[in-house]
Amino acid sequence: MDLPIVVTGATGFLGGALVRRLRAEGRSVIATGRDRRRGAALARETGARFEPADLAMPTETDRVIRGALAVVHSAALSSPWGDPRAFDRANVRATENVVQACERFHVARLVHVSTPAVYFDFRAREGIRESDPLPGTMVNDYARTKLEAERVVTRAHARGLATVILRPRALYGPGDTTILPRVVEALRRGQFPLLDGGRSLVDLTFIDDAVQALVCALSSDRAIGGTYHVTSGDPRPIGEVIAALADGLGLARPTRHVSADRALVVAGVLEALHRALLPSIEPRITRYTLGLLARTMTLDLTAARRDLGYAPRVALEEGLRRYLASLDVRPLPKGSA
Ligand SMILES: NC(=O)c1ccc[n+]([C@@H]2O[C@H](COP(=O)([O-])OP(=O)(O)OC[C@H]3O[C@@H](n4cnc5c(N)ncnc54)[C@H](OP(=O)(O)O)[C@@H]3O)[C@@H](O)[C@H]2O)c1
Repeated sequence: MDLPIVVTGATGFLGGALVRRLRAEGRSVIATGRDRRRGAALARETGARFEPADLAMPTETDRVIRGALAVVHSAALSSPWGDPRAFDRANVRATENVVQACERFHVARLVHVSTPAVYFDFRAREGIRESDPLPGTMVNDYARTKLEAERVVTRAHARGLATVILRPRALYGPGDTTILPRVVEALRRGQFPLLDGGRSLVDLTFIDDAVQALVCALSSDRAIGGTYHVTSGDPRPIGEVIAALADGLGLARPTRHVSADRALVVAGVLEALHRALLPSIEPRITRYTLGLLARTMTLDLTAARRDLGYAPRVALEEGLRRYLASLDVRPLPKGSA
């Protein structure tokens, strides 16, 4: 029997999609996460072995990683809001434990999933390269702890572990529980604002492209020690994406124009109120989420194409078509929603 590939965060969106792909290729896979119900369902569907583990606990992490050929570390707490200690636990401590287990059990390769949130500072930026300087202060605890986790992985590479870090941008597709469902919900309520006319460019990643990049990272020797962007290579104005989504759902396209600067001020006030009075409750809108919609951020894929052999395949129209098909929605006649 082949040595298994361990996929962390397998009960989540990206990890689950990777498990499906690896199993479809006949690879031996250990899927791990904390949600036993989701894990059991994934195991039934794919034939992967599910091992529940809290990666913030070193003994549990060792148990799942012992004997692995390679590890893809996709688990994280990704949210614009939350207790800083929860981010440290899920993103930094868990990564330290994964790295230590990989070193202890001589795992041949660790592919670590990070995020381009580490670049975000509310300025519009196009064609960002992996070597571009990062802001002095991270935008929130998510970005702060994901950057710290990258540093944990980079230090392990310096000690001899074969590592590859990927920074995929804004994942969407069938199984998405985060980005598009929130947009769809806001469209249904007729509450999606067009920030600055919807002109900012968004650089989305269809889930199959992200999975393809992970598969490349597992096999490309040239990529070892590197950090790589992943997108579907098809940046579009956010207004165009939202219009396509609204059309596909048979909902009215948003028409309410809002100044991004003004919206950011309002979100800032809301955040301050929550921090003072309701710190455990996420505000309805955060400056970070608004900023992602209002500020252009596109990523250069030259290094991923060159070193990983990565080539994105799913353009926006096709990705949205597949996402909408997974929702099993039929467009309603315009104006009926
Ligand atoms: N989604 C995006 O648009 C996006 C964009 C850029 C980067 N990323 C990165 O891509 C990766 C995957 O994101 P995703 O959207 O698939 O996330 P997700 O759906 O929220 O899944 C997160 C996964 O992490 C697991 N997890 C969290 N804390 C854990 C812990 N202490 N021990 C074990 N497992 C733990 C969760 O397990 P349980 O649910 O079972 O507890 C779940 O399987 C993350 O590293 C994220 O930072 C995502």
